[in-house]
Amino acid sequence: MITPPVAGDTFAGAPPPPSQEEDAPTYGSVVLGGTFDRLHDGHRRLLKASADLAKDRIVVGVCTGPMLAKKEYAELIEPVEKRMKAVEDYIKSVKPELVVQVEPIEDPYGPSIIDDKLDAIIVSKETLNGGFAVNRKREDRGLPLLKIEVVDLLSGGAEGEKLSSSALRKLEAEKANQQEGAASKGHWTEDMRDDALEPAELYHHRLKVVDVGGGTGFTTLGIVKHVDNENVTLLDQSPHQLEKARQKAALNGVNIIEGDAEDLPFPTDAFDRYVSAGSIEYWPDPQRGIKEAYRVLKLGGVACLIGPVHPTFWLSRFFADMWMLFPKEEEYIEWFKKAGFQDVKIKRIGPKWYRGVRRHGLIMGCSVTGVKRSSGDSPLQLGPKAEDVEKPVNPFTFIFRFVMGTICASYYVLVPIYMWIKDQIVPKDQPI
Ligand SMILES: C[S@@+](CC[C@H](N)C(=O)[O-])C[C@H]1O[C@@H](n2cnc3c(N)ncnc32)[C@H](O)[C@@H]1O
Repeated sequence: MITPPVAGDTFAGAPPPPSQEEDAPTYGSVVLGGTFDRLHDGHRRLLKASADLAKDRIVVGVCTGPMLAKKEYAELIEPVEKRMKAVEDYIKSVKPELVVQVEPIEDPYGPSIIDDKLDAIIVSKETLNGGFAVNRKREDRGLPLLKIEVVDLLSGGAEGEKLSSSALRKLEAEKANQQEGAASKGHWTEDMRDDALEPAELYHHRLKVVDVGGGTGFTTLGIVKHVDNENVTLLDQSPHQLEKARQKAALNGVNIIEGDAEDLPFPTDAFDRYVSAGSIEYWPDPQRGIKEAYRVLKLGGVACLIGPVHPTFWLSRFFADMWMLFPKEEEYIEWFKKAGFQDVKIKRIGPKWYRGVRRHGLIMGCSVTGVKRSSGDSPLQLGPKAEDVEKPVNPFTFIFRFVMGTICASYYVLVPIYMWIKDQIVPKDQPI
């Protein structure tokens, strides 16, 4: 086992790596592994110590794909190419004569159980067992066993300043959250996303899933918790959003493509699951999009469409209507049934302060699911899609829309803050 936790959890602020003793052992080729996100002093200590132990060649496995899924703030881990380059550049800077072989690894072993020219594996005290596991696998495969070298990463860390990659990512995530603003946090949180995805029945890692209107991949991150990245497709019409999704290491391997929800670039009967979250409110013709969902699903496939619901409180409803489409629950159900779906169900979604009650009538969401019970295209026939016609925009209309849009958006920034404060004050056993 290449021992990923070593590098992901080392410490910065520590003194430079210990120089090797005169009689320190050296090996022809050594191997080690890690995440090496935001290469910091802890990583450098480990890499330097490993390079000191190698005479000819150093092999470094850099975690990617499923190896990152359970890491904290996985979506903020740097792309694997960037991490691999940082590792290679650093080793070359400290020991230019070494052959440096840096590889992405998608399982805990990587080249350590394949390469028959390796002599030693570098581990920390915490990951020593990983070294033993590697040797067991090598033995099974008839490969020579590796000498296990334990590097003490913490020696001399007098300052004790604990700054790991995940702590750095946490800081960045907090900054990004502040920038996103209170509204998006209140309206669409990870808890809500996971709750909304639950009816999609993502119970097997081999399911073929498409996330339509996937944007920067927030919901796709919820999907890849259950399904192999290679089986997931993220589609969005915005190249800008897709670029952001491509930067997320946790989405490595996901098929990220540009396309229109109402005219999906996939064959009929292609996916086991269709997911779309927070996108339908932007579609010019939602019924057409749901008909497409039906078409691209395989027989027995499930569509899970997550969207906002028309508010019940008059002021919220006024602003919602001014802003964009907020379908009623009945409309979602009707669209699904007309498209041909059976077993149509709706689950209400809300942030924590919602407490399962909609009486305040704010924007709440729903997760609508339906099952495709016969293969082929949707029974619903729609005429050809209306072409987008470029009309000259009246400047007064533009300014009016812009001002109204800003007012409406501000309303929905303030409402979750108000509700959050109320949630703190009102006793937990009462609805707010
Ligand atoms: C609010 S974002 C939601 C993104 C993501 N699903 C999430 O849960 O965070 C809405 C996304 O829908 C996309 N979108 C809107 N209309 C679309 C269409 N007709 N086809 C494909 N994507 C569309 C937008 O580009 C945007 O990225």
